Amino acid sequence: MYFQVLKETLVRHGFTFESETDTEVIPKLAKFVFDKANEEGDQTVTFSQVVLEVMRHLEGAYALIFKSRHYPNELIACKRGSPLLLGVKELNDDVCNGSAFHDAKFLSKNGNPKELFLSSDANAIIEHTKKVLVIEDGEVVHLKEGGVSILKFNNDKGRNGDSLSARPASVQRALSILEMEVEQINKGKYKHYMQKEIHEQPESLTTTMRGRLLRGGSCKAKTVLLGGLKDHLKTIRRSRRIVFIGCGTSYNAALAARPILEELSGVPVTMEIASDLLDRQGPIYREDTAVFVSQSGETADTLLALEYTLENGALCVGITNTVGSVIARNTHCGVHINAGCEIGVASTKAYTSQIVVMAMLALAIGGDTITKQERREAIIDGLFDLPNKIREVLKLDQEMKDLAKLLIAEQSLLVFGRGYNYATALEGALKVKEVALMHSEGILAGEMKHGPLALVDENLPIVVIATHDACFSKQQSVIQQLRARKGRLIVMCSKGDAASVCPGGGCRVIEVPQVEDCLQPVVNIVPFQLLAYHLTVLRGYNVDQPRNLAKSVTTQ
Ligand code: G6P
Repeated sequence: MYFQVLKETLVRHGFTFESETDTEVIPKLAKFVFDKANEEGDQTVTFSQVVLEVMRHLEGAYALIFKSRHYPNELIACKRGSPLLLGVKELNDDVCNGSAFHDAKFLSKNGNPKELFLSSDANAIIEHTKKVLVIEDGEVVHLKEGGVSILKFNNDKGRNGDSLSARPASVQRALSILEMEVEQINKGKYKHYMQKEIHEQPESLTTTMRGRLLRGGSCKAKTVLLGGLKDHLKTIRRSRRIVFIGCGTSYNAALAARPILEELSGVPVTMEIASDLLDRQGPIYREDTAVFVSQSGETADTLLALEYTLENGALCVGITNTVGSVIARNTHCGVHINAGCEIGVASTKAYTSQIVVMAMLALAIGGDTITKQERREAIIDGLFDLPNKIREVLKLDQEMKDLAKLLIAEQSLLVFGRGYNYATALEGALKVKEVALMHSEGILAGEMKHGPLALVDENLPIVVIATHDACFSKQQSVIQQLRARKGRLIVMCSKGDAASVCPGGGCRVIEVPQVEDCLQPVVNIVPFQLLAYHLTVLRGYNVDQPRNLAKSVTTQ
C-alpha cells in the first residue's frame, strides 16, 4: 500500500510510529516537510505551504485538520473525496440569509463576533449553526489570527517544480443553509439512536412519501410524482438496462426493490456492489441508467463508482438521504429519501425509506398500461397504508426482546429468504452481525440444497422468512426440509399463517402484518431491526457505534 512507502521513507529519516494506522503518517510527513524547508534555509515556509506539500503526497480520500506549535493561532483544514463542512455562526445573528462568504475576520461586517466549526458531518454542527460552507476537493481552509480564508490549489507544481511555490486562488462562495433541526439529533425518550430510528419509521416513511403520491382529487387517478426525475423519465424508460449501485444496507435496499422495478418497467435490472464494479471495471454503457443508492451520499466506493459511470456516459440517478452530498450533487438527477437524519451506524429508517423511494421509482418509470393499472393502484394504496402497518409490526418489540434473550449466547444465526425477501434475509443478517457482533448469514433459500443444508442441526438457530407471496409454497417446502433435519426454526409469516407454516407446532413463529408483496420487505425488516437492537443491548455492546464500523465510510 502506498502509505507503507511513505511510512518507510519517514522511518528511514528517523521517525518512529506508535500505531499501524495510515493516518499517523500524515502529521509525521508534515513535520518532515517543515524540517526540510527549514534545513534548506526557507524560514518563511507558511503553514498552508506545508499542508499543500503534504496533500501532494497523499492518495485516496481524506478530510484533515492541521494544528502546529510552529504556527500558533493558525489552523488548516483540507479535504479530498471525504466530506468537510465549515460552520459559520455569527453570534447575536440568528438570521440565516445565505449571504456570500468572503475571506472573513472573526468579527463579521456588522461587528458581530463569528464562531467557526469544522466537521465532516452536519450532525455535529447543527446545534451551533445552520450556516455552512461545503468545502470542495483541493480547497484549503486557513484560520489565522482571527481571520479565515479559503484557498483553492490546483494540483500543478510551481514553475520551479516545487509545489511550495504554487499560487493558490482565493475562493468566494455562498453559504448554504442546513435543512435539519436540532431535535433530529436528540434521542428523545429513547435510550439509543438506533432504537429511536427504528421506532420513528412510521413518521419517516410518511415524510418520504409526502407530496409524492397522489390519490383521488379531480382526476381520481393514483399516481406518483418524483420531481427530481420528471425530465429524465423518458430516457430511463428507454434504457438498455438499469444498474443499481451501492454498498451495505443501501445495496440491500436496492435488491429489495429490484423485482418490482423489473416487473413494472420491463427493463432488465442488474445489481452492483460499488467496490466490485470498480474491481472488475465492469461494463457500463451510454444506454444504461445507473441508480446510486447511498444514505450518506458520501460513501467512497459509491462515489468512485459514480465517477467511473459518468466517464462511461450512463445516465446517473442518485437516491440519497443527504441534501447537498456529493452523490446528490454529481448525479444527473435523483430523489431524496427525506428519512431525516440517521445517527445510529446501523441503518434502519433509511433502509425502509430507500425501498419506498425505489418502489415509487418503479411506479414512475413503469408504463401506465391498462394491464398494470390494478397492480399499480394496489401498490399505491399499500404505500399509503404502510406507516400504519409499521406501527403494527413495531408492537413486536417485546416479542423480539424475548427472542433476543433466547439467542443471547448463540454463536451464529442463519436467515433464509427468497424473492422479495432475499434482501430481507441479507439485511436482517447484516443488522445482527454489525451491532450484536454475532455471526449471521443471509441465504437465498433456493440455494439451500447447495451447501447451507449441511449446517443444519438441532442447535443452530435459523430464521425462515415465509410471508405470503408468490414464493410462499416454496418456502413451506424449505421449512419442511429443515424440520426433517431437526432444524431449530424461527419462522416469520403473515398474520394467521402460523398453522400452515408450522403444522403441528414445534417452531417459534413471528407473525407480521401482510402488505402488497413488493412492500413486504419494509414490514419484514422491522422485527430483525428490533432483534438486533435487543441482542446488542443484552450482550452489552455499543448499539450506536459498533466496534470498527463507521456511519459513512469515506475511505476506500
Ligand atoms: C457503512 C454503514 C452502513 C451503510 C454503508 C453504506 O458501512 O455502516 O450502515 O449501509 O456504509 O453507506 P451509504 O451512506 O452509502 O448508504
